[in-house]
Amino acid sequence: MRTQVGIIGAGPAGLMLAHLLHRSGIESVVIESRSRDYVEQRIRAGVLEQGTVDLLNETGVGERMQRQGLVHAGIDLRFGGRSRRIAFDELTGKHVVVYGQHEVVKDLIAARVRDGAQMFFDVTGTAVADLESDRPVVRFRDANGEPVELVCDFIAGCDGFHGICRPAIPEGVLSVYDRIYPFAWLGILAESKPVQDELIYANHERGFTLISLRSPTITRMYLQCDPEENIDEWPDERIWDEIRARLAGEDAPDLVPGPVIQKGVTAMRSYVVEPMQYGKLFLAGDSAHIVPPTGAKGMNLAIADVKVLAEAFDAFYGRGDSGRLAAYSETCLRRIWKTQRFSWWMTSMLHRFEGGAFDHRVQLAELDYVTTSRAASTTLAENYVGLPFE
Ligand code: FAD
Ligand code: DHB
Repeated sequence: MRTQVGIIGAGPAGLMLAHLLHRSGIESVVIESRSRDYVEQRIRAGVLEQGTVDLLNETGVGERMQRQGLVHAGIDLRFGGRSRRIAFDELTGKHVVVYGQHEVVKDLIAARVRDGAQMFFDVTGTAVADLESDRPVVRFRDANGEPVELVCDFIAGCDGFHGICRPAIPEGVLSVYDRIYPFAWLGILAESKPVQDELIYANHERGFTLISLRSPTITRMYLQCDPEENIDEWPDERIWDEIRARLAGEDAPDLVPGPVIQKGVTAMRSYVVEPMQYGKLFLAGDSAHIVPPTGAKGMNLAIADVKVLAEAFDAFYGRGDSGRLAAYSETCLRRIWKTQRFSWWMTSMLHRFEGGAFDHRVQLAELDYVTTSRAASTTLAENYVGLPFE
């Protein structure tokens, strides 16, 4: 088989790249090791930056998001037993939209199917080779176990943090920047009426908690926990009690417990490799970088990367200009590092660390400052709604 861009991974990065390339008349094939059903049901992130929302709308895949997504013009920061609001609209003129990542994935797959695109789900044994040549190849077995060789002009490694593309780059090429946090998030989805319309990020001595939502009847919540936390030790009642304890205080939101329909533990890590390209291979999204989820940036960064990559392919195929492909990594990394900084800062300000009472008082002072100084609130708001695309 032959294609222009071989795309490994049908997450937000791979699917959005295929969609943008199609709009530029560039052919691609998407290869995914999971089933279509699996990627369409996988519960992950839920906050879309204004730029992500605009891109989905402008490229014709935002229709369901416009109907079902929830526009949020601010968030609450809760500390010292009370909540204070950061008003995004007033501070930046922008907002975010709460719409599950798996819904974005569903919309993008539907667009690929409608456009008659080539997608292979349930593949095994994916490997890439000849990355330095003019004919890099992707090899895999299709859902029937038949071997396939896909010869490409370029390969896009959109295969997430545990994919095979980043490790295919020879040793010594990449610099790795890594930080592992001493805590994780226990995330739940519950059939319960959200306590309020907007998100609550709460700093508490017992640990951080985040109250989010997916619809008027589904609540999404996270609790800071141990990275080795055994989920079996968290029956529904314990989860609700712990969240209630971490929200206690003045104007405490009125939790309405309901059945927990999904739960899982997510590790917290900051990670970047440089550069994000090698020969004809380009890494995008989680395959090149991970952020701790506190700033809701993971999926948004993946979308921002492939926007830059799609424009670079468009310049190459449309005008024979390879300068933008050569600058891909550098272009993306400027914004990625700013977003890394924001995610690290939100994580540091809101979680309980081992540092003790002094560190906790500094966090409270910082939260007080961030919620009372217009300059500091604006800094948080403009990062949260999303920095401009490069
Ligand atoms: P992915 O979505 O990981 O997509 C990569 C795809 O490649 C996958 O479908 C995978 O199956 C496929 N693949 C991997 N290896 C191969 C192979 N060898 N061959 C073929 N296909 C392959 N971010 C937030 O902001 N907030 C959150 O609450 C949040 N929660 C998360 C919870 C979990 C459990 C995880 C893992 C991530 C979470 N994130 C969250 C991060 C966010 O979801 C990611 O940043 C986002 O999915 C990145 O998109 P991507 O397309 O780069 O990678
Ligand atoms: C959600 C996840 C996040 O990481 C975040 O910062 C806000 C909301 C969510 O899943 O709804």
